[in-house]
Amino acid sequence: MTPSPPRGAQSSRRRFIRLAGGGVVLAAASPLAVIGCAAGMPTAALQPWSAPTDTLEIREFMLAYALLAPNPHNRQPWIADLREPRAITLFCDSDRLLPETDPFGRQIMIGCGAFLELAVQAAAQRGRAVQVSLFPDGEPPDQTLPRGVRVARLVFGEPGSAEPDPLFAQVLERRTHKGAYDNQRVVAAPLWQRLYRASAAQPSLMLGHVSESARMTALRHLTRTAFEIELLTPATYLESARLLRIGPTEIERHRDGISITGTMPRLLDAVGLFDRFEVPRRGTDAHRRMLDYWKPFETGSGYFWIATQGNRRGDQLAVGRAFVRAQLQATADGLSLHPLSQALQEFDAMREPRRTLHAALGLDPAAHTLQMLSRVGYALEPAGHSPRRALSDLLRA
Ligand SMILES: Cc1cc2nc3c(=O)[nH]c(=O)nc-3n(C[C@H](O)[C@H](O)[C@H](O)COP(=O)(O)O)c2cc1C
Repeated sequence: MTPSPPRGAQSSRRRFIRLAGGGVVLAAASPLAVIGCAAGMPTAALQPWSAPTDTLEIREFMLAYALLAPNPHNRQPWIADLREPRAITLFCDSDRLLPETDPFGRQIMIGCGAFLELAVQAAAQRGRAVQVSLFPDGEPPDQTLPRGVRVARLVFGEPGSAEPDPLFAQVLERRTHKGAYDNQRVVAAPLWQRLYRASAAQPSLMLGHVSESARMTALRHLTRTAFEIELLTPATYLESARLLRIGPTEIERHRDGISITGTMPRLLDAVGLFDRFEVPRRGTDAHRRMLDYWKPFETGSGYFWIATQGNRRGDQLAVGRAFVRAQLQATADGLSLHPLSQALQEFDAMREPRRTLHAALGLDPAAHTLQMLSRVGYALEPAGHSPRRALSDLLRA
């Protein structure tokens, strides 16, 4: 942990940050994240976004695309075992869980589902169908962290056994855009329908959207309240703080987590005036500033959600597959889809917002599980990609 600066430095830090005003690019999601900015992002960390070559061995080709999947906090919680010829076994990486904000590994499992979907799409691009066998050791319980679980075994078919998926064209374009969206633009009805259709490739999911102004206002209030709870709860705040990667050196070293590329936080960090491990307290400047940084997350044209009856591990994987398909469809249609997961989280302090959110969407928390809630809209500025670890990092050969 970064040691706290002495008292004098604390007060000069406050002065300095106040002077910096809105110029700071440290932003807030879950509870710390960055408003993406390609400048300051080291090239090596973005290398996996260059099109993987067609000559790669089929399994490596599949994995080179799969590792681009959206996933919580960009933990990239996956290990791919290639020791069995002609098969891939996907494991959930025990070292990449989020025990505080995701105490049951539900979101981690959704990330693994998105990974599977992109692996299957990449194989189809090479004309191969994939037989996906989920949880070869049995479906793990839904309230225990899925440490080291064998998530799936993938076996691919003969050449010509699959047609390319049209959404695959968006895989290298997709990103989670965390900046401001246009509040004036409406998402036309056929575009919502396209999001539904893309997600409905996974059966049995409950899908919905919200675009009426009064309901959007209620969701904005709820998501902000939940964000504040996550921010002010030391264990959940610190879990995110440990995943901050400030500046190119840290980003390149880790190639995961929450990238901070803005000049001001880097400068403050370099001179010891930003202590990432200082938990904000209600009513302080730090708390107010964090709420300011949340503001772009209250922009957009609506919300898209995915829920399940029950909450089995297989459901969570299906949600991940559906969610990434929706994000790919959104990309094709010039839209952005940004998950806001705080109010869905299962730690104790979030119980009430979670219940209220389910009710606001017409869901019964005793029977249904809200799995993804994302704001939807037209981004005002372009955003860059987030880092990825190298393919070789996840392989067990
Ligand atoms: C299950 C899940 C939950 C997520 N929750 C949030 C969230 O609460 N806030 C946020 O800013 N991004 C959230 N994301 C998006 C991730 O931060 C993003 O996918 C990751 O940083 C990788 O970036 P990319 O999607 O641009 O490749 C979530 C993604 C998934 C799959």
